Amino acid sequence: MDTIVSGMRPTGRLHLGNYWGALRNWVELAGQYSCYFFVADWHMLTTGYEDTAKLQDNVREMVLDWLAAGLDPAKCVIFKQSDVPEHAELALMLSMITPLSWLENNPTWKEQLQELARTKLSKAAEGGENVVTEAPSDADFSLRTHGFLGYPVLQAADILLYKGTKVPVGQDQLPHLELSREIARKFNSVYGRVLPEPQPLVTPTPRLPGLDGRKMSKSYGNTLELLETPESLSKKVMSMYTDPKKIRKDSPGHPDPCPENPPGCVVYALHKLYTPGWEKIGEDCRAGRLGCVADKRDLLLPSLEKPFSAFRESRKRYESDPKLVQSILDEGARKARSIAQKTMAEVRRAMRLA
Ligand code: TRP
Repeated sequence: MDTIVSGMRPTGRLHLGNYWGALRNWVELAGQYSCYFFVADWHMLTTGYEDTAKLQDNVREMVLDWLAAGLDPAKCVIFKQSDVPEHAELALMLSMITPLSWLENNPTWKEQLQELARTKLSKAAEGGENVVTEAPSDADFSLRTHGFLGYPVLQAADILLYKGTKVPVGQDQLPHLELSREIARKFNSVYGRVLPEPQPLVTPTPRLPGLDGRKMSKSYGNTLELLETPESLSKKVMSMYTDPKKIRKDSPGHPDPCPENPPGCVVYALHKLYTPGWEKIGEDCRAGRLGCVADKRDLLLPSLEKPFSAFRESRKRYESDPKLVQSILDEGARKARSIAQKTMAEVRRAMRLA
């Protein structure tokens, strides 16, 4: 039977992109396979080491969202990475055998470095500093840390520690997973077969744009959180990007992504996920029979109402027990550690450390 391992960095409350992109798959997988789902708090430090004030709150908020979305601690192991120190021990061992070039050539690292440099500059500019924002320097030494470069080594340790065979991840994580496999292969060729090579489990997920049509992301401020209130939900829906060429309510619209409307209508993208019979809405929009305001107010909001209120209710129940998250994480760490310790004993023996 497959062992599933996946982690999420503690970003606080989750948005719909996190849900459709990852969490929903986790809920499906739990119970069908042996699953380990963890809060990657050490991974958070690789880019966020300067600002840890909200780390504990973010862990709690995120785990509450996992529970409210239906992830059942009776069907999977839910824990926090830093509660299982074996992650660090295995990462150190794997760092010994990982050539630097594998890390430096990782496209995800290069992209993220650029992205972080850009974010840092724009924050500085907002703060009134006079900075050149066109050419962010990825040579910035405060971003080029050992820990951040070694991100995929820690990630490999996360997976290999549980002998994970399948890893549900998004498209952007594939280079990291490729590295996990290469590291496992190298370990096995040097020390003998101990660690299985993990395969990605890329579940086809619908493209879910943010409120403004760009990719939904906390850093763009364009998210729908799972925990919106009816008021905030309505405000956000009414402000959604639709089709700039649909000037009047009877102009023909372009709901799907196309040359006339490259991002596609965000309202329509959500209908596809939440409204049975959504095809008819697309037809009416194209034919100029349906205006954007009416679509948002009379069609999308009503179909979001039930799923969002169900989520709020469920989240309220979990929140009302102040000790619940901690006790789930404690119990999860206990289960995870017992497996992790077994693997580490094998690893130490294979390496002749014991
Ligand atoms: N890198 C992953 C992300 O940013 C999080 C992560 C850390 C992870 N360790 C992992 C995912 C192990 C899968 C397996 O989303």
